[in-house]
Amino acid sequence: MKISRGEDNFVTLPAFAAKLYDSMMQSSATKMQYKEIAQDLVSLMHSGRLLDVGTGPGYLLREIHKLNPEIELHGIDISNAMVEQASRNLADITVDLQCGNIKATNYKSDFFDLVTCSGSFYLWDDPIDSLEEIYRILKLGGAAYLYETHRDINKQELWQKMRENLKGDNLIRKFLSPRFFIKQIGMTYAKKEIAEIIEKTNFVRNYKIEGITIYNLPVWVRVRLEKCT
Ligand SMILES: C[S@@+](CC[C@H](N)C(=O)[O-])C[C@H]1O[C@@H](n2cnc3c(N)ncnc32)[C@H](O)[C@@H]1O
Repeated sequence: MKISRGEDNFVTLPAFAAKLYDSMMQSSATKMQYKEIAQDLVSLMHSGRLLDVGTGPGYLLREIHKLNPEIELHGIDISNAMVEQASRNLADITVDLQCGNIKATNYKSDFFDLVTCSGSFYLWDDPIDSLEEIYRILKLGGAAYLYETHRDINKQELWQKMRENLKGDNLIRKFLSPRFFIKQIGMTYAKKEIAEIIEKTNFVRNYKIEGITIYNLPVWVRVRLEKCT
């Protein structure tokens, strides 16, 4: 039997767990994380149609909307509880939210100008099929940007930087957030593994994996995947 990388836990995620996740994502550090990713995305796209895969509570979509309300927003998530949480969080803006697995969606081919995700790719049980689906739904000339943590990191340095980031937060977040993040990082891919997956897809000749720092944490990669002729 195939062991799920994590997406199975989200399919059956109860509403209270989605609420707990939502509350964890409101730390000042996480807010800055969404803000920095959104700033990067709006610098890459001025108008058009954007999909956030594994949108969770939808905070990245909210930040993008704040910076550029012209962008047409779509979000997909495998967890119904997360989609309901995102619907509540984004009730005041126009956004299309769907519950579904990125490996097989209902979107038309050549539909999106940009596809993104933050901290979701590492959970997908079928990353190759999922990237092929992203290739299908992207317009020609469009690109996907995946913001993921990777596990080739210095844990000591990470703890110290996380403590600095959470100085102003309440005790529960100070205790839970770093543990949650370290656990997540342990489940993520090494950079080399990400490349091996991409090389089995249509993005093989048009990708770039860059190590980046987001909100003081040098544990991220930005993966750019272009759909070219
Ligand atoms: C760690 S959360 C990140 C949520 C959000 N991107 C954020 O930054 O707060 C991962 C999300 O990916 C979703 N997810 C996992 N596997 C998925 C898949 N195959 N297709 C769509 N969503 C998926 C989960 O339900 C969960 O909401």
